[in-house]
Amino acid sequence: MTLKIVQYGDPVLRVKCRAVAEVDDAILKLADDMIETMVDANGVGLAAPQVGEEVRMAVVDVSHDPDCVSFLRVNGEEVQMVDIMPLVFINPKLELEGPRESDTEGCLSIEDIRANVRRPSIVKATLQLLDGSVIELETDGLLSRALQHEVDHLNGILFVDRISPAAKVSIKRKLRRLGSK
Ligand code: NI
Repeated sequence: MTLKIVQYGDPVLRVKCRAVAEVDDAILKLADDMIETMVDANGVGLAAPQVGEEVRMAVVDVSHDPDCVSFLRVNGEEVQMVDIMPLVFINPKLELEGPRESDTEGCLSIEDIRANVRRPSIVKATLQLLDGSVIELETDGLLSRALQHEVDHLNGILFVDRISPAAKVSIKRKLRRLGSK
């Protein structure tokens, strides 16, 4: 079932989400629905607060472009992108490394705005999966960026919070309009 994607201005996008204590049927259903919603919206990631749920869960799928990373390791072993996508994770912890890189981002909750965001290039992510296992995922490129963007959502942070002041001026009016809808 596709879910309604919450839009900029809704307070749920500013909530610090709570940890998922137990993977029950409701969480499994939410995960399925979030994947369906992300695919339907042609997104590469979606976090639970974007569908109104204040829990630390997100989905990411960048498998449309397997070359968007220069390396991808799970628990220290090289893996194929397609083998781990779509990636649903709960209660993530990120360690960020490497030089900050700038690239364009958008968000399913902030329609019509895209802007450059600088983020550390490399991420080491400790992710809990729905089967109870915990993986350590290391990567860079678009997947690193997507993980950072989604984990920001779980802390009530949006990509427009991270753009340069100069860039922010140019989208300020647009944001205000979205926020007052
Ligand atoms: Ni987003």
